[in-house]
Amino acid sequence: MSESRILNAALRGKIMSASDAAAFIKPGDNVGISGFTGSGHPKFVTQALADRIAAATARGENYRVGLLTGASTAPEADGALAKVNGISFRTPYQSDPDCRNHVNAGDCGYVDAHLSHSGQNTAWGHYGKLDVALIEVVAILEDGRLIPSTSVGNNQTYLDVAERVILEVNTAQDMLLEGMHDIYTVGLPPNRKPIPIVAASDRVGEPYLRVDPRKVVAVVETDCADRDTKFTPPDENSKRIAGHILEFLGHEVKKGRIPANLLPLQSGVGNVANAVMIGLNESSYENLTAYTEVLQDGMLDLIRSGKFTCVSSTAVSFSAETTVDFKKNLAEYRKRIILRPQEVSNHPEVIRRLGTISMNGMLEADIYGNVNSTHVLGSKMMNGIGGSGDFARNAYLSIFMTPSVAKNGALSCFVPMVSHVDHTEHDVQVLVSEHGLADLRGLAPRQRAKLIIEKCADPKFRPALTDYLARAEKGANGLHTPHLLGEAYDWHLRALRGESM
Ligand code: COA
Repeated sequence: MSESRILNAALRGKIMSASDAAAFIKPGDNVGISGFTGSGHPKFVTQALADRIAAATARGENYRVGLLTGASTAPEADGALAKVNGISFRTPYQSDPDCRNHVNAGDCGYVDAHLSHSGQNTAWGHYGKLDVALIEVVAILEDGRLIPSTSVGNNQTYLDVAERVILEVNTAQDMLLEGMHDIYTVGLPPNRKPIPIVAASDRVGEPYLRVDPRKVVAVVETDCADRDTKFTPPDENSKRIAGHILEFLGHEVKKGRIPANLLPLQSGVGNVANAVMIGLNESSYENLTAYTEVLQDGMLDLIRSGKFTCVSSTAVSFSAETTVDFKKNLAEYRKRIILRPQEVSNHPEVIRRLGTISMNGMLEADIYGNVNSTHVLGSKMMNGIGGSGDFARNAYLSIFMTPSVAKNGALSCFVPMVSHVDHTEHDVQVLVSEHGLADLRGLAPRQRAKLIIEKCADPKFRPALTDYLARAEKGANGLHTPHLLGEAYDWHLRALRGESM
């Protein structure tokens, strides 16, 4: 493959095995890898590094690394390193079970950062020096430019900032990906300029990543598919949540607040997001666009059906079946897909300008509209805030959705006070559960509380929430956002004791 995919002669001379390349990563190094929601991550060197770490640990040596990514990666990337407890520091988003366990056991320091901030934090040195960038690419051109893979993430920043660079050239990624990307560098203050994107379909950069070839210490050839991000057909609750959102969007159109083809959509991953996409596909909406961070199965269906004219994202994240279709029809799909750096896909300036309709999952919300997306019962990390905060504060509509209860009905996802705050009441405009939708715009806190309890909470928990609010209105030290501070977390304390909330 080196002849067809690695055209630069100097870099061809750097081809080596994954285990030889992994030897460039030393104990204590910070490593910035490609990868976003299971696509475009390194497939071989991370596993070879995990083997080195396991062997060193068995010899009693301390060999761990700091790991920076785009977002979640895959079992063979951050998963392999977490399995051998090889990650001492992690940012900005993870969803691997082993990684999560180490974070919650306290032996992996995790900085849960907004995805749009993670590149600039790295460039400013907030995470220390970046020793190595390990980036998957589709090919290396003769002049050394790189064809990016199925995710862009923070790749350009890591290539720019790292002291040493390792490239994985993956022949399993299609050459037709060339031209799909739009690499625009935001830079650092005081030298930033307005990002000239005024529509999701605008291209403002170039389709290649750039690297200083003198920094490249290794090139590794791979041939391995991205993660299979399983598609689960939406369950009844997800369908109901999607139904409420679609009805609400129709109402917004009727009111003349948004155009008939809506505004660019941003949608988180998962069951509810797929249900919304399926609902849109069955609707009469046409000429839709998305300005989002991840393009999953449901959105590709809308491209295929012609409903989406353009999806701007930083990554794709497909099931194995959809990957087959994506590759087969790439020549067509690429006309409607743009993959950008996550600093651009999630940039507050562009999100505010375009006025996205943002739909993200959450763990719990409180009666005043504060949202917890990350922490189970206050202390335990689930995944991370991801891009939800980038969009929530700046979208035209910031929608958070969840089934009304968790753990077979024992936990209410609507509580007096959230046990951790990711999105404050100021950034949350709409809450949705299977029972209904609460449009919180323009409402004062006590009006919000009544609406959230009435529309979103499960009927089983409504009386207790109503009772809490009524007593808080009598017993609190003020009537703006009344709380009974000694009682507000009783719900979570009961859950921690294994009781129903
Ligand atoms: N309290 C405690 N646990 C709760 C809970 C609550 N209120 N609500 C849900 N859970 C548990 C579920 O029981 C489930 O546990 P399990 O893994 O042991 O089965 C887990 O949390 C995930 O819940 P699920 O209903 O499967 O949610 P999901 O897949 O829709 O994910 C988030 C929900 C919040 C975890 C997910 O949306 C997320 O990570 N969000 C943050 C990042 C983000 O928004 N990115 C957006 C851009 S892509």
